Amino acid sequence: MTVARMTVLVVGATGSIGRLVFAEAIRQGHAVRALVRNPRKAALLPPEGRVVVGDVTRPDTLLAAVDGADAIVFALGSGKVGAESVDYGGVRNVLNALGSRKARIALMTSIGVTNRTGAYNRATEAHDWKRRSERLVRASDLPYTIVRPGWFDYNGPDEHRLVLLQGDRRQAGDPSDGAVARRQIAEVLVRSLVSDQALRKTFELIATAGPAPEDLDALFAPLDPDPLGALDGVRDMANMPLGDEPQRARDDLEAMRADRPTNG
Ligand SMILES: NC(=O)c1ccc[n+]([C@@H]2O[C@H](COP(=O)([O-])OP(=O)(O)OC[C@H]3O[C@@H](n4cnc5c(N)ncnc54)[C@H](OP(=O)(O)O)[C@@H]3O)[C@@H](O)[C@H]2O)c1
Repeated sequence: MTVARMTVLVVGATGSIGRLVFAEAIRQGHAVRALVRNPRKAALLPPEGRVVVGDVTRPDTLLAAVDGADAIVFALGSGKVGAESVDYGGVRNVLNALGSRKARIALMTSIGVTNRTGAYNRATEAHDWKRRSERLVRASDLPYTIVRPGWFDYNGPDEHRLVLLQGDRRQAGDPSDGAVARRQIAEVLVRSLVSDQALRKTFELIATAGPAPEDLDALFAPLDPDPLGALDGVRDMANMPLGDEPQRARDDLEAMRADRPTNG
């Protein structure tokens, strides 16, 4: 498949997924730019591509990174602390830095992101803040794909047949929810950037026994898009009413909608 060459910004480029996204975007023929907060870690990345130093919690450091980007892949991870400032605030700050410019977005969150009552989310609020980052992306009206991977690299050696699910109903909070190879997560994130079939789609990504698919468009195509104007993914549980949300999250959503009324 021949695809348009884009300038792709990878946010979280030194992470376990971001590194693979960076390499995969180069492999798919794009001009690639890594946002890196510690320049010494740039040595982890292949030499092709550009490194821009910035920290997603510091909006003033993000302008150069987004300038001229046609696409942005978010592969951020904050660990057990920092979900609000990094996983959520990072997405908000990068989108704000983009201003009124248009870019294709691929956002990685997590399988089980709508599970609010499990021990992990009660301790960290990581699901809730990641889900709020999804909501910001939807409200931005930018063209997007949201990928919620299963457990990284818990797949068996023969499990590469990708399965895309919607509604986020697998919520055991352990690898029985599904697993997928990091390399395939990166491939899906990058391929989604050039796929009309992946537009405005939110899905969980897992793998079962079988070979890796060759045609990702054929997997994206049957999925339902998120309804226009919706906060959550299509068929997600309605368990995060806007009226109960923290005022700061509501303010961010309102600002995002006001700033970007006509893109898409
Ligand atoms: N593990 C799983 O099975 C699984 C499954 C589904 C979803 N997830 C989700 O995936 C995420 C973890 O992905 P991963 O393993 O690729 O994470 P990771 O290896 O920890 O990488 C996180 C990336 O985010 C960057 N980052 C953190 N704070 C930043 C900041 N303030 N400014 C700029 N960049 C910043 C890190 O930069 P530095 O290199 O400078 O730290 C790194 O590049 C988690 O949020 C988790 O919920 C995990």
